[in-house]
Amino acid sequence: MTKWSPNSWRAKPIQQVPAYPDLLALKETEARLASFPPLVFAGEARKLKKQLAAVANGEAFLLQGGDCAESFAEHGADNIRDFFRVFLQMAVVLTFAGSQPVVKIGRVAGQFAKPRSSDNETKGEITLPSYRGDIINGIEFDEKSRVPDPARQEMAYRQSAATLNLLRAFAQGGYASLENVHRWMLGFVADSPQAEKYEALANRITETMDFMRAVGITSETNFALRETDFYTSHEALLLGYEEALTRVDSTSGDWYATSGHMIWIGDRTRQPDHAHIEYCRGIKNPLGLKCGPSLTPDGLLELIDLLNPENEPGRLTLIARFGADKAADHLPKLVRAVKNAGRSVVWSCDPMHGNTVTAAGYKTRPFERILKEVQTFFEVHQAEGTHAGGIHIEMTGKNVTECTGGARAITAEDLQDRYHTHCDPRLNADQSIELAFLVSELLKKSHVRQPHTQAAE
Ligand code: PEP
Ligand code: CO
Repeated sequence: MTKWSPNSWRAKPIQQVPAYPDLLALKETEARLASFPPLVFAGEARKLKKQLAAVANGEAFLLQGGDCAESFAEHGADNIRDFFRVFLQMAVVLTFAGSQPVVKIGRVAGQFAKPRSSDNETKGEITLPSYRGDIINGIEFDEKSRVPDPARQEMAYRQSAATLNLLRAFAQGGYASLENVHRWMLGFVADSPQAEKYEALANRITETMDFMRAVGITSETNFALRETDFYTSHEALLLGYEEALTRVDSTSGDWYATSGHMIWIGDRTRQPDHAHIEYCRGIKNPLGLKCGPSLTPDGLLELIDLLNPENEPGRLTLIARFGADKAADHLPKLVRAVKNAGRSVVWSCDPMHGNTVTAAGYKTRPFERILKEVQTFFEVHQAEGTHAGGIHIEMTGKNVTECTGGARAITAEDLQDRYHTHCDPRLNADQSIELAFLVSELLKKSHVRQPHTQAAE
């Protein structure tokens, strides 16, 4: 294999490249980004890898989620807080059900670049370049907005830094303390179908905390009750940006992507001899790999060899995204191949990207299909004797109407009310927590051991 360097991807074929008209300006932007401080640190990425190793070993569960695409327009403290609160609520529901740590990774603070199925978009008589995410061009359907502009990369970097700063404060500054489990209730909109269930759970946690306090374990003496580890992730699509933020870790001498703790490779850019795999194989961060219907067991093993040749637990998370109807067909073959080859991976389920349909002129996802894919994911792992390691979802803390269904039964006609996403439809706050409760049931079931045959007494 040829020698890796942060720019060795440039010699490989590549998919999904924006057509920047001003290459000199692009080069100057990348040079400036290369001189900016890292967003995350190698030690944090290593700590996350350790936590993911616990998931790979069946001792923890992964919750990964956030926007399909972050946007400049939605950047604000309220959005970040609402997202983080719902994320924490989901995590607490899953921790309680699974009696296992939940590894928390946001699709946030860097999730800006989008792969597109077509280079162009046509509306009526007009054809323009597709929107590729705010880090590349603008969503407005006019010629000027759709021109890729390198200055957007610096805006995305600044927004990521500000978002991460607030998330770190929330995670470590008291907001995430389990003593606040009731205060997170404030986010529920009136008559939320999930509020009552969540409150009952919060009461049980508070009762447990009261008991622990009585025996001397308090949030003052125990930081695990007071703060949480929260990590960031995004699709490593825009490789010039990633390269500029690739840095050597002074303690280990290894290269790390410092744009986020974990980065993943999308389903459209996972060709083994292409640029995205080349870039990712050389950095030491935990990696994700989207696994869609076109991936064969041999193709997957080839990618695992490239991305995790040393079979390091926690290095690689396989994110299955087949669609509710295809998962039962595709997933078992892949799970079996990985197991038989003795490869350590985290298996996670993205029940969003294979379940997109159009209704009333909107791209949407029916909640029942999302749930069905997660159920199938758990059933397959139960049958294969492997660990259903986590879920990967597109969600927001806001009360949007982008996915149909759920307890509040959003219909196709409701979609127009609050359809705000810049890319794919997200679960809203209620739907996210509802999904967490349903997954918690699956987790509980998967933890029930087969009863041992008892010898007669
Ligand atoms: C995404 O996660 O937003 C995405 C584009 O997914 P995939 O690569 O699985 O299609
Ligand atoms: Co998406």
